[in-house]
Amino acid sequence: MKILKSSLAISLCIATFLFVSCKNDKEDIIYSNQDCSDSTKTPGAKFQLVDSLVQKKCVSCHSDGGTSPNLDSKCNVVNYWQSINKVCVTNQTMPPSGPLSSNDQQLITNWVNDGHLFTH
Ligand code: HEC
Repeated sequence: MKILKSSLAISLCIATFLFVSCKNDKEDIIYSNQDCSDSTKTPGAKFQLVDSLVQKKCVSCHSDGGTSPNLDSKCNVVNYWQSINKVCVTNQTMPPSGPLSSNDQQLITNWVNDGHLFTH
């Protein structure tokens, strides 16, 4: 009886541990997408290259009150990664003056392939 009780207790411990560690995994994913608004987080090298490219070549039109989407913030660049990749690399319709250089397109591809997060 004593053995049964302690093995039950151990199972309960294991189950709780598994539950807690799975839960933490999920929270990690959610938080890493919000890093752009967390001043304690440092932007990743690949993100920074894409962000300065967008600030230089896109925000003259895509800013607050300008053409949608507004790309005038780091969080918006992170959130619109898919649209940016589509119009600059896949369809090459932006900027309107002509496609980005293959070097610039590669910077976007590198960041997207690495997971397109603020800290990447
Ligand atoms: C000279 C102004 C101008 C510049 C510079 C510019 N855009 Fe645009 N963009 C537009 C206009 C106007 C539209 C809406 C009409 C259209 O789709 O052509 C648009 C549409 C878009 C859209 C939405 C269309 C879709 O299919 O989802 C995205 C995303 C976009 N631009 C991203 C960018 C990025 C990224 C850059 C920088 C590499 C950029 N744009 C540079 C004017 C500009």
